[in-house]
Amino acid sequence: MKAKVKKTAHKRRVYSILTAFRAMSKNTHKKPRAAATWSGRFAEPVTERVQRYTASVSFDQRLAEHDIRGSLAHARMLAACAVISRRDLAAIEAGMRTILAEVRSGKFKWSLANEDVHLNIERRLTALAGDAGKRLHTARSRNDQVATDVRLWLRDAIDALVAQLGALQMSLLDLAERHSGTVMPGFTHLQVAQPVTFGHHLMAYFEMFARDRERLADCRKRVNRLPLGAAALAGTSYPIDRDMVAKALGFDGVCANSLDAVSDRDFAIEFCACAALVMTHISRLSEELVLWMSPRYGFIRLPDRFCTGSSIMPQKKNPDVPELARGKTGRVAGHLMALLMLMKAQPLAYNKDNQEDKEPLFDSVDTLADTLAIFTDMVAGIEVDADAMRAAALEGHATATDLADYLVKKGLPFRDAHEAVARAVRAADARGCDLAALGLAVLRQFSPLVGADVFKVLTLEGSLASRDHAGGTAPKRVRAAVKRARNGLK
Ligand code: ARG
Repeated sequence: MKAKVKKTAHKRRVYSILTAFRAMSKNTHKKPRAAATWSGRFAEPVTERVQRYTASVSFDQRLAEHDIRGSLAHARMLAACAVISRRDLAAIEAGMRTILAEVRSGKFKWSLANEDVHLNIERRLTALAGDAGKRLHTARSRNDQVATDVRLWLRDAIDALVAQLGALQMSLLDLAERHSGTVMPGFTHLQVAQPVTFGHHLMAYFEMFARDRERLADCRKRVNRLPLGAAALAGTSYPIDRDMVAKALGFDGVCANSLDAVSDRDFAIEFCACAALVMTHISRLSEELVLWMSPRYGFIRLPDRFCTGSSIMPQKKNPDVPELARGKTGRVAGHLMALLMLMKAQPLAYNKDNQEDKEPLFDSVDTLADTLAIFTDMVAGIEVDADAMRAAALEGHATATDLADYLVKKGLPFRDAHEAVARAVRAADARGCDLAALGLAVLRQFSPLVGADVFKVLTLEGSLASRDHAGGTAPKRVRAAVKRARNGLK
């Protein structure tokens, strides 16, 4: 009986899957509404499903303004080179002004039938400007057009991200300056290692983000080359002036090979590598914020506007923002992998595969822009519990290395000093106190070289102050590093 009931339920499920599948495949054969721009040589239109599958307009419409900029530069060059007339150029310019206004106001009607941003805009231009609109695509292909659009768009995105990184660095600097003398335990293996200042710790992140900015600025040089003129793949037979277009669009020069210009996306891959590194640095900071906020550490508090509560545990305040940023790091690193795999083994020149470059690229930029904006604000709002940091620094014999160095300066070889201090640490652990609390008489049992001046080096402040060299954690060095960094940012 039971078996029978199960069997009917199973049959019903299979049936409903089949019905859904039949409906889907019926849909596959539906004809789309309008004919495509390039449909002249085709005996039948693509099915609606294929149309949706091959179209990119749903995501590449955000390239619209850059597409228009590229088209205007191209049209002006065509007119200057007498490939189109001045009248055609004027009609194209007027049409593009209207289209730009429509795009900006959200009134532009994007259509799936026109496949992508380029054909949508060209169709609208032709509706507005007639034959002049149809002449815009002379000496050009969507292949060099899309590569140009993406490069223009990415260049703007990089400039914005570099500025945002600078703002985050400024937040870090302000906090580091306030805490140039705030002692905390420095960790290796997440075990208390040696005392450092919180300012010094924050400046480590400043340095990471400084390198990220350098990397992005360097990547920008390779982004900033003009593909237009490569046309579909082999160049064009019209008398064009690529340098004129490059100059008009602010490119540093033209892509030197037409096949490479339309097909490679290494500039986008490189950007995603830079973005993945930024997020990797963010994820390290996030992890530390999560740890420091945990009551087990209690080093910092994050403002409530960056935390959320639990729906079941009323006492909870969770560091959602750093946790999410840590999670989104995986997503951005994934985009890098996606683009690498997209380019892998693609034969020259353009292949439709490349249409898949946009979503990972856009999402990397969006994720970074949001994360950097939020972190700039959040870092500025960090409240520090200096007493908790100090108490933690006192707990793990953080000044043991200082004691060993003290003995070395009195003539003991370092390995012997290490051994003597290790035994002193064991004695302190057995008594449940720190090294300084052992007292002079006990410390001398481990080495007769210990004198009354030992307590200076055993204090946290003594340890910090002694690391007085470029890159060291002495508060005075941290203040100098902050000052230098601030001047560099200006
Ligand atoms: N939407 C296309 C892309 O993003 C534009 C280039 C299409 N070129 C072509 N030959 N189908 O790559």
